[in-house]
Amino acid sequence: MGGPYAGAVTEPALQVAGLEKRYAGRAVVDDLTFRARTATVLALLGPNGAGKTTTVEICEGFRTADSGEVRVLGLPPKDPSLRARVGVMPQTGGAYPGLRAGEMLRLVASFAATPLDPAELLERLGLDRVAGTAYRRLSGGQQQRLSLALAVVGRPELVFLDEPTAGLDPQARHATWELIEALRRDGVSVVLTTHLLEEAERLADDVVIVDAGRVVAAGSVRELTSTGAAGQLRFAGPPALDLAALLLELPAGCTATESPPGQYVITGAVDPQLLASVTAWCAGRGALARDLRVETRSLEDVFLDLTGRELRS
Ligand SMILES: Nc1ncnc2c1ncn2[C@@H]1O[C@H](COP(=O)(O)OP(=O)(O)O)[C@@H](O)[C@H]1O
Ligand SMILES: [Mg+2]
Repeated sequence: MGGPYAGAVTEPALQVAGLEKRYAGRAVVDDLTFRARTATVLALLGPNGAGKTTTVEICEGFRTADSGEVRVLGLPPKDPSLRARVGVMPQTGGAYPGLRAGEMLRLVASFAATPLDPAELLERLGLDRVAGTAYRRLSGGQQQRLSLALAVVGRPELVFLDEPTAGLDPQARHATWELIEALRRDGVSVVLTTHLLEEAERLADDVVIVDAGRVVAAGSVRELTSTGAAGQLRFAGPPALDLAALLLELPAGCTATESPPGQYVITGAVDPQLLASVTAWCAGRGALARDLRVETRSLEDVFLDLTGRELRS
């Protein structure tokens, strides 16, 4: 506490430690620990039933944990002062079915000190033509985008988005992604859940992969896809290169195989240094490494490695 740099460290937007939630004796959230940095996008990525919604609803103050610590902007989730500072997009809409889309958004905006312009927000999300339509007459995808608009119109510091693009068509999905990217540029902290890899890969600064209520991996997309036996380097060259000699030049943990003759695969943490070492070694033997191809892992591969299952379930 105190000291010259005390103010320089930004408090995380969200801190979750040892979180547990049981239903009928079964832990659906099981000792979950992670934190979301301020002004970044964190994705909770996991298959259906992983415990994502349960986790965010505890953070939103809608459910109570059995144990563990949650701090939202430094405060307990049910602290009343968070209402004005946190936006929530639930997985299933909880709106007033008879109100028109535009009315609903203007009403919510009117509660905020410095709201976004409701008309502009409707347009960005492709909802301007249904502004006069009652909520219950909107399509599922329109209700979902309105729910996103309601979550962000008050310019919250932190927003929770639970599966924001599930079931949307590609155009609506892209509009949603662009809005989330704009929020991030504006310094809003975003915690979203998703079972879509491309969504996490595109949007998230940090990813927490959850399965069966537990964190199976966490880090930046780059870290997650480039650690351990992260990738493969393939190239073609003259047959029967001395791979044992090559391996001596490479970091521990790499493997090298030739199959069929003249086609080589190096596995390991493929980084610029590894690529340089392999091509330099080939050059030292007068061998041209042709058709070089680097294949890094996707988050799907990471999930498969860690759980033995596909993410799409
Ligand atoms: N209110 C509840 N009562 C009983 N079981 C629940 C309840 N809410 C969630 N669950 C169970 O907890 C598990 C995690 O659900 P959920 O948090 O919705 O996962 P996700 O959002 O990752 O799909 C599921 O097996 C679900 O059936
Ligand atoms: Mg869910």
